[in-house]
Amino acid sequence: MLASKSYEDQLGQNQVHLSCVDSTNNYAANLLKTGDVVSGTVILADEQTNGRGQRGSAWQSKPGMNLQFSAIWLPKNINTQNHRVLNFAVSVSIIRFLKKKGIEGQIKWPNDILVNGRKICGVLIENNVRGNFLSSSVIGVGLNVNQTDFGNLKAASIKGETGEFTPIQSALDGLLLELNKVLELVSSNQIDDLESIYFKHLFGYNTELQFEDMNGLFRGEIIGVDDTGNLKVQTNGVIKSYGIKEVKFLF
Ligand code: BTN
Repeated sequence: MLASKSYEDQLGQNQVHLSCVDSTNNYAANLLKTGDVVSGTVILADEQTNGRGQRGSAWQSKPGMNLQFSAIWLPKNINTQNHRVLNFAVSVSIIRFLKKKGIEGQIKWPNDILVNGRKICGVLIENNVRGNFLSSSVIGVGLNVNQTDFGNLKAASIKGETGEFTPIQSALDGLLLELNKVLELVSSNQIDDLESIYFKHLFGYNTELQFEDMNGLFRGEIIGVDDTGNLKVQTNGVIKSYGIKEVKFLF
């Protein structure tokens, strides 16, 4: 794909393939600290010894069987007030990639990707900020590709859904293609469509669900995501906003 004026840092134009690392997000963060890194650099690992997830959780994946990578993006014009669009963009590109594989994914806020209630992909985006703008972003993605045995975890994979083996490099190439298309929209501020696709696939959007917050269980429905990226839940006519650690929804 040709780069537009606003989006010249195609993710994957520079790739580092590691057989084993603690976490590709850590590796990317260290590269950023050196100050000598090309926007769009992707770090792919066959194995992580300390793969990290959201809420301080661990990300586990059988060596060599799944896609685990971090992409370094140095965005030029993403205001911190708008950083949620990056979540939307990454989630939507994974949904689109899975659709090409014949898999219907759903998004669990903020950016877990589920198939029939089982998790197929997790995303850990870590941003650095300068003034009012994002100065760099590490987009970490763990996508279950060829692993089919997850013990008692509620997980899914491409092979489990389709029966087909996918080479990891081909999964990476396919996903980067979608990510680059969507990030180009973000760079040129064409985010309305992105938001509507995100909400179309968001689990629990405008549907009554059971939630749990620090005050206990309650019923409510997701009505959106605010400027800070918090989830907006309406319950008995009252709208509450939650950060990632502040609410769970039960399904
Ligand atoms: C989650 O589901 O909580 C997020 C999981 C993110 C896992 C990926 S694997 C590649 C990258 N490196 C990490 O340490 N984490 C992310």
